[in-house]
Amino acid sequence: MAAVLDSVRAFFAHSIFTIDAENAGDVVARETLLDRAMGPNRRRKSSEKIRRGRVPAEGLALVARDRDGHVIGTVRLWNVEAGGNADGTAIDALLLGPLAVDSSFEGKGVGSALMRAAMLEAKTRGHGAILLVGDAPYYERFGFFAAKAQHLVMPGPFERSRFLALELVEGWLEGAAGMIVPTGRMLASAPVRRAA
Ligand SMILES: CC(C)(COP(=O)(O)OP(=O)(O)OC[C@H]1O[C@@H](n2cnc3c(N)ncnc32)[C@H](O)[C@@H]1OP(=O)(O)O)[C@@H](O)C(=O)NCCC(=O)NCCS
Repeated sequence: MAAVLDSVRAFFAHSIFTIDAENAGDVVARETLLDRAMGPNRRRKSSEKIRRGRVPAEGLALVARDRDGHVIGTVRLWNVEAGGNADGTAIDALLLGPLAVDSSFEGKGVGSALMRAAMLEAKTRGHGAILLVGDAPYYERFGFFAAKAQHLVMPGPFERSRFLALELVEGWLEGAAGMIVPTGRMLASAPVRRAA
């Protein structure tokens, strides 16, 4: 992680922002940014079902900071199983989201930098594919396409044309079919379900 972020930091050394690992002190700023960028209904999304009560994939919660260190962008990725292949073997993958950038920094490359840093870090960590639900015209520039996710379904309502995937390892999603299921570690504070 450190090596990838060091190279990303060096790349943005003269920029108005940097990409960094999220830390515990960023949580309030990140949530405020997400409320502003995505509105109050953001927690009703099907993707949220996969994230709820879980921690992001190791090393894959990133923020963008302005020169004063304030959080101006966020992206996180989550461990999932992307259905199974023809012989029923489960396929590990990542679900990306939410991605958001402070409106006063939009159009300055912050979102792209977060996406590229996340994709590089995920590949470095040996992940095979990333899925997301989002605007295809934005995500296609990073190599995300609906065709790769055509036989996969989210656990709840979703628009097929917005359900996109990127293979970090060629052929990783070959034959992938079925439901996206969260596999990430539970938050320590997540409510425990008790048997009746
Ligand atoms: C989408 C978002 C993350 C983009 O961040 P950003 O830092 O402004 O993006 P970048 O500067 O890297 O890229 C800007 C480019 O993306 C395009 N773009 C931005 N949002 C887009 C969208 N929803 N669909 C298509 N293109 C989009 C811009 O037109 C611009 O195009 P250009 O390079 O041809 O001029 C940001 O606008 C945001 O937080 N939006 C609100 C939350 C959201 O919609 N999140 C994504 C869920 S789909």
